[in-house]
Amino acid sequence: MASIFELISDQKTPPSYKFFSRGKWWQSKSGKLTEIISPVDSSILGRLQVVTKEEIDQAIGDACRGQKEWEKLAVDKRAKILHLAADWVREEEHFLSTLLVKEIGKTIDEAKSEVLRTAEMIDLFAQEVRTLRGETLESDLFPGFEKGKEAIIDRVARGVILAIAPFNYPLNLSASKIAPALVTGNACLLKPPTNGGISALHLVRIFEKAGVPGGVLAALTGSGSEIGDYLVTHSGIEMISFTGSSQVGKSIAQKAGMIPLLFECGGNNPALVLDNANLDLAALEIVKGSFSYSGQRCTAIKYLLATSETMDKLIPKLKKGVKEKVKMGDPRSPRTKMVGPLINLDVAMEIENRIIKAKVNGAKILTGGKREANYLEPTILDNVKPTMEIVKVETFGPVLSLIRVKNINEAIEIINASEYGLQASIFTQDEGTGIALARKIEVGTVQINSSPQRGPDHFPFLGVKASGVGVQGIRYTLEAMTRPKSVVLNKPE
Ligand code: G3H
Repeated sequence: MASIFELISDQKTPPSYKFFSRGKWWQSKSGKLTEIISPVDSSILGRLQVVTKEEIDQAIGDACRGQKEWEKLAVDKRAKILHLAADWVREEEHFLSTLLVKEIGKTIDEAKSEVLRTAEMIDLFAQEVRTLRGETLESDLFPGFEKGKEAIIDRVARGVILAIAPFNYPLNLSASKIAPALVTGNACLLKPPTNGGISALHLVRIFEKAGVPGGVLAALTGSGSEIGDYLVTHSGIEMISFTGSSQVGKSIAQKAGMIPLLFECGGNNPALVLDNANLDLAALEIVKGSFSYSGQRCTAIKYLLATSETMDKLIPKLKKGVKEKVKMGDPRSPRTKMVGPLINLDVAMEIENRIIKAKVNGAKILTGGKREANYLEPTILDNVKPTMEIVKVETFGPVLSLIRVKNINEAIEIINASEYGLQASIFTQDEGTGIALARKIEVGTVQINSSPQRGPDHFPFLGVKASGVGVQGIRYTLEAMTRPKSVVLNKPE
């Protein structure tokens, strides 16, 4: 049986993938292609088109026109298309997860989990959209006003939404933008990541196959430096939903102008372990939180704060956790656990460099620290100071830094001095203290007795400071991608 994905590439080895616009798959007139190199073995997996400005204009023009018709379609019909897309994602689970392993170096289990989570998420958007409501308001609630004015408030689509997805969840964090945008009647233009772009194009083909009409969804490939500025400053774009680094997020926000932004940026998340914590639980959660997908998650734990006494008790448990639960290796092997390759050699070398600098400045390597090509061992550093680069900026790799503090107040000061504010974890057996401390920490979410994480995906997910703009999560994203439209009816008695 022919694969549903045949038409998205030229079927050569390695394939050149097409971009999707105006309901068709195209080769770009630019003649330029970007090679996608597998982080697993450096093989060429395929090539992506670099679209031209004219092709961007055409896609956005078509999206603007298509969106007007799309938003008139019954919500039920749009939701059913999403359910069909979710079914196709499940149907293609093996193919998609194998592709993720090769394209972004996730382990087999992590890749499968991303695929299935994507299907569940699409379904949940399609269910939740049925509960979005407008409302009516009467004027006499406000002092000085009598009855006689009634605001009829609908929730309407915003228009054309630009979705910019990162390499680390190319299916899930594309779907978390495409699905809510489409189901609420918007058009969506996806700018896939470079690595992860092949996987994202397969997802777009699934939405097409499920029945999303031509023009309403487009996927425009090309590196951020080549097409990014043109896309984010385009007058046809009415909202940007972005996941990626804080640095790129800030640059997009400065250029985009006065349109709504929904951004998930860098994390640099701390774990605070109190003296009364269950240290076995804390160690397991911290190992998982620091090293799953080689620490390439915005919600990964990057540093751990504890008093010296607690740190000394925790360290053997952390080392044991790394030894037993983490196995670095080729992600295609079922023996590999949590740590595979980093996304490319430059990133691996940069992180190794930060480890060396930390060591020179007094940090001690407790485990790991060695690099071979783009594979970096799971690394724990002790005696790290908050001013060291390894913790001051987000280190997107398998490194956990231990910071010894005098007391809880010092720990909170260090956390709140960070430029980031995505999540934090507190480990304690006293929930009351945990909640009281959580209220003092300036982040979007504090997890008590668990590692940071975005899911379950209907929970609010947000960052403060350099970690994001706006709130995501199934209902929150649907609300963000719609706006109130108010008609005020004046009806004198
Ligand atoms: O990398 C950013 C993701 O939103 C993190 O999601 O917590 O499910 O790994 P996760």
